[in-house]
Order: sequence, then C-alpha cells, then structure tokens
Amino acid sequence: MAEFPYCLILSSCLAWFVFLVAIELSLAESTGYGFMIDLIHRDSPKSPSYNPSARLVDRHLHALRRSLSRIKHLRRRTNRPSWRSSKKDVQSELSPAGGEYYMEIALGTPPLPTLGIADTGSDLTWTQCKPCRPCYPQDPPIFDPKRSLTYNLVPCRSDACHMLGNNGFCSQERTCQYNYGYGDGSVSKGDLATESITLGLNSSLPVTVPGVPVGCGHNNTGIFDSKGSGIIGLGGGPLSLISHMDHLIQGKFSYCLVPFTTPNATSKINFGECAILSGEGVASTPLIRKSPGTFYYITLESISLGTKNLPPKISNAKDLSSLANEVGNMIVDSGTTYNFIPTELYKPFESALLKVIQTPQVQVPEMGLCFNTTTDLAAPPVILQLTGANLLLKSANIFTRLSDDAVCLTIFPTRDVPILGNFGQADFEVGFDLEKRTVSFKPTDCTGSS
Ligand SMILES: *[C@@H]1O[C@H](CO)[C@@H](O)[C@H](O)[C@H]1NC(C)=O
Ligand SMILES: *[C@@H]1O[C@H](CO)[C@@H](O)[C@H](O)[C@H]1NC(C)=O
Ligand SMILES: *[C@@H]1O[C@H](CO)[C@@H](O)[C@H](O)[C@H]1NC(C)=O
Ligand SMILES: *[C@@H]1O[C@H](CO)[C@@H](O)[C@H](O)[C@H]1NC(C)=O
Repeated sequence: MAEFPYCLILSSCLAWFVFLVAIELSLAESTGYGFMIDLIHRDSPKSPSYNPSARLVDRHLHALRRSLSRIKHLRRRTNRPSWRSSKKDVQSELSPAGGEYYMEIALGTPPLPTLGIADTGSDLTWTQCKPCRPCYPQDPPIFDPKRSLTYNLVPCRSDACHMLGNNGFCSQERTCQYNYGYGDGSVSKGDLATESITLGLNSSLPVTVPGVPVGCGHNNTGIFDSKGSGIIGLGGGPLSLISHMDHLIQGKFSYCLVPFTTPNATSKINFGECAILSGEGVASTPLIRKSPGTFYYITLESISLGTKNLPPKISNAKDLSSLANEVGNMIVDSGTTYNFIPTELYKPFESALLKVIQTPQVQVPEMGLCFNTTTDLAAPPVILQLTGANLLLKSANIFTRLSDDAVCLTIFPTRDVPILGNFGQADFEVGFDLEKRTVSFKPTDCTGSS
C-alpha cells in the first residue's frame, strides 16, 4: 500500500489506515484519489452462496458451465455472424447468477447496503425495487425508491433512455422503462432512474456517486440469485457505474483476483489513483473500440509455448475473416472463470503442449484436456502475445487441480468470443485506463501474503 499514499481502503477493518490517509485527502483531491473495495468470490467462505461441502471438482464443473453460458450471452451481444440471423431480441443467455464476484454497494439516501454481482460484461446497474410483482426471493432487504431522497425517474426523451436501445421503452407517464430478458427466460423490468450509489459505506470515508443510472426492477421473474440483488454494471458503456464515476476515478480501475486455490483470500477492486499500475513488469495493450462498448476488447495476436511461437499468424487471404486475425478478438472479463482462445490458435497450441507433457491424459466429463497426476505438471510457460504486450502465464493460470489425481487445462477453444477469464488473470493486477484506452497487467501476489 505504501506505493499509493492517496489510496483509501474502503473496508472497515482497515479504517485506521483510512483515518490516517484522510488527513492528506484535501491535498489528494486536487490530483484525484483512489479507493479499494472487496470483491467476494461466489464460492469463497465470505460469500453468502458459500457451500462448504461442495467438492472441488464440482466447483470447477459449475464454474465451467457458467463460463459456457456466459460465452453464449457475450456472443449474442457482440452480434457475431452466427447470431445475426437470430430474430429473438434477447439481451442475454446468461443465467442472471452468472457473474463470479459479489461487491457491496449502498443505494439511495439514506443508503441501503446490498450485495450485487460485479459484472464487467454489463453496463446498467439494476436491483429489485418495492413494490415488485413478482419479486424473486432475495436475502438483503429490497430497495424502496419512495424512501430515498435522491431517487429520480428518467424521462423517455433523455440520453440515458436512448442508450438502452431495444431494452428501453416508454411508460404512459412518459418515463423511461427498461426490460432485460435473459436467455433462460428470466426477466427484470422496471423504471430507469438515477440514484446515488455509495461505495465503502462501512469505512470512515465512503464515496458517494450521485446520479447513476439504475434499473429499479418492479417485475422480476426467473432464476436469479437470492443472495444478492441484481447486477453492478462495470462495463465500459455510457450507462455503467464506471462511466458515471469518471470524474472521480479518471477512467481508471483495476482488480487483483486471487487464485482458485486460495478461496479464503479476498480479491480487490481499485478505483482512481489506486488503479494506476507502475513499476517493473507492467505490460500494456490497447483497448479496442468495438460494439458493444460494454466489453473490454483486446487483441490476441498469437500464443506461444515457452519461446516457440505457435502458430505463425494466419495470413492466408482466405482466413482474413478468422477470429485469430481479428483486431479486438478477445474480451477481458471478470465474470468468466475459464479462458477461451480462437480454435485456430488452440489446435496447434494443444498439439505442442501434448508433445512436451509426458503425463497420461485422463477423461473428466465436460472438461477439456486433463492429465492424471498427483504432482505438478512439468510444462513450459505459456505466453499470450497481445498487441504490445507479452503476457507470461504461470502454471496456475493454465492448469487447475480438480482432484487428487487430475489436473486440467484452463484454456478452451472457441469460435465465438475468446475470453481472458479469471484463471488467466489470477495473480495479476489488471488495470483498465479508459482515458488512455489501455489494459495493463502486472504480476502480483493478489492474496497480499508476500
Ligand atoms: C457493513 O456493515 C453491515 C452492518 O454492520 C454488515 O452487515 C456488512 O457486512 C458490512 N460490510 C462490509 C463490507 O464490511
Ligand atoms: C411481469 O412480466 C411478465 C413477463 O413479461 C408479464 O407476463 C407480467 O404480466 C408482468 N407482471 C406485471 C404485474 O406487470
Ligand atoms: C478457509 O476457511 C475455512 C473456514 O472459513 C476453513 O475451514 C478452510 O480450511 C480454509 N481453507 C483454506 C484453504 O485455508
Ligand atoms: C491415474 O493413474 C493411476 C495409476 O498411475 C490409476 O490407478 C488411476 O486409476 C488413474 N486415474 C484415473 C482417473 O484414470
């Protein structure tokens, strides 16, 4: 922490530190300041969804199914050709419980604390609102807009309403409504409003962001996650919480995800000054502008095993439409556990890997490439060659132990949406700078134990 004298840590146990830093805040404000809050993995003991009896192999399988469901959702939203013919206007295939991390925010004035799913793949933050007919069961108290002094409905003729696109419509009172349908049949419908969102409510220096577009869901049906209330939109689009904190955080946020193997450690998300990566080992790659602006697109040019480049970039004119050749062909996502690379890159990668790994394979239903071993696999490092940055992935980014004798690859092929997922990002500080339009990676022990 010493590196960031102006970072405020918004967690009650560290309030002491916050108090000390507060003295410097007036100085810091002229240069901007930052703050940090917890990201709680859904399977960690701190999560309300924690199931202590879940076996590791089941956790992996559930995470894989969520990753695959999320890919379908992202694919639909990126309008990849295979979906262009689809007439269904469905916002997502994602089961609404599909994100991986909860984050605590407080809504309104006075602020009502609630847990939401922190989602870099969504822009609009939404929550269940009173009265709702029907509501899905929810453990935290339901937000009552009548009790908040800062809740304001948004007129139809407003930029925010237009930004909803097909997901927005107009009520008889000419106020803006949103309607999100998910692929599994779940629906959240209600008023588009602006509301204050407070981060770090329990700390001595909470940060309140006024006027954030929020979906107030009065009609919510389907398989939503009862532990939280809706979604916290951390995407790059203009409706997101990130965009509305712009003045405060200068377009900068970062997170540090702890590895799957240390579920008791807590991942962190940083904003503003805290999210500036510096020092040795920082590798930066451009953020590519593509539709929808929600997603954080980067370009995966190639992948290599050790120093061996695999394969040479596909340059056959016939293959120009190939995902492997597309600028902005990969999404950095905090809500997908596994990693996905274009099939054209995956195949030569897999054969090269099989040449160097002598360990026998083992079939694990649903999983990809797995090996039968009780010890660590001897495999060379994998380098993701991103534009302008070589991302050196360690064994823990690439392999995961499912059981005493099975270790599986965390990388899968896809013809839809390549994703750098949680496994690939673990133990990196991943910093987004929406002003400079870059994503940076710095190798870091995210458990903070060294
Ligand atoms: C904040 O305080 C409330 C009430 O004491 C508690 O339920 C909640 O877990 C706390 N949140 C954090 C992030 O510590
Ligand atoms: C809630 O939405 C569902 C699905 O769109 C609809 O059938 C139902 O009538 C709505 N309920 C209310 C009270 O508007
Ligand atoms: C994590 O914490 C739980 C109790 O909350 C404990 O039972 C478990 O052994 C811990 N796991 C690790 C890997 O330290
Ligand atoms: C893994 O290999 C051992 C022998 O080395 C064998 O006994 C065991 O059944 C294998 N496990 C699986 C799941 O195939």
